[in-house]
Amino acid sequence: MQDPVFSLLDVERSYELRGSGWFNRSSRQLKALDGVRLELQRGDTLALVGESGSGKSTLIRLMLGLEPASDGRVLYGQRDLAQLDAAERKRFAREVAFIYQNARGSMNPRMRIADILAEPIRLHGLCAEHEIAARVAALLDRVGLPAGLLQRFPGELSGGQVRRVAIARALAAEPEVIMADESVAGLDVSVQAQVLNLLRDLCRESGITLVFITHDLGVASYLCDKIAVLYLGRIVEQGPTDAILNTPRHPYTRALLQAFPRFDVPLKASLSGEIPSPVNLPQGCRFAGRCPQVQAACRATDPSLTALEADRQVACLFPVTAA
Ligand SMILES: Nc1ncnc2c1ncn2[C@@H]1O[C@H](COP(=O)(O)OP(=O)(O)O)[C@@H](O)[C@H]1O
Ligand SMILES: [Mg+2]
Repeated sequence: MQDPVFSLLDVERSYELRGSGWFNRSSRQLKALDGVRLELQRGDTLALVGESGSGKSTLIRLMLGLEPASDGRVLYGQRDLAQLDAAERKRFAREVAFIYQNARGSMNPRMRIADILAEPIRLHGLCAEHEIAARVAALLDRVGLPAGLLQRFPGELSGGQVRRVAIARALAAEPEVIMADESVAGLDVSVQAQVLNLLRDLCRESGITLVFITHDLGVASYLCDKIAVLYLGRIVEQGPTDAILNTPRHPYTRALLQAFPRFDVPLKASLSGEIPSPVNLPQGCRFAGRCPQVQAACRATDPSLTALEADRQVACLFPVTAA
């Protein structure tokens, strides 16, 4: 088997919270990620799902090398992201693309679409100068936008068009991996479906590896072959999409599915019980306080992510058995 594209080995990310005011200088640690283990294989399409604050964006920032892990290691292929030299970093920047949550805000409003798309091609020296225009036109066509938009500015485009341009820009560098953070959130349902279709076709045609953050299980199941469920900075369950949706083994995943079974209903933090603070994680299982099947052992032992079946893992002392 090939090396994984990404391997996360017990990754932690904590933030120092400083007390406010001169009288309170104590600092506390917020654990945004706490012992994350993940392997991404070439061609995988992985959805990261979880309630707001579960650490999804932090996880992607670490995988993009935008922030270092506080502990543990993030490997790209066999190389630790924290140890890439300048040439490796440049290659990484071409091979791993990111689609921003705020597509419009990520574009210079004074640049024409043609120049926005040409920029990564030039930066990575992907073709001769006289070939750039044709490449840019082909990119726009690939995301289903008319060539007439090339001379427009981002402010003149609709929300759906801007997302497509953002996808085209991510594709411009011919990446092997695309990461996207809530890339369809806030779009109306029909535009959302168009953008999702586009991403799905691109992954299938080009074998691109995709990491897609969403709080919407419907979106996750439509787009991705695998799902990893995050809860308070830890992956609590992961596996093939069908298996996760049909036979969730973690009580948290099951609760999510029961609460939000429909495609277009976004996930809100409305499960019963209290979400503990990532500043003061409870001893034992972090889901114990909300878990409908909690047992005494759960409050003492913090379960680690363990293989249940082939490519199926769960962090629960008493996994749900088939309903
Ligand atoms: N730069 C930061 N400083 C302090 N806390 C942060 C920072 N970034 C994220 N957090 C905290 O880390 C946790 C995870 O955040 P995030 O990764 O944005 O979650 P998600 O994307 O799943 O909503 C949250 O409790 C958030 O408040
Ligand atoms: Mg986020």
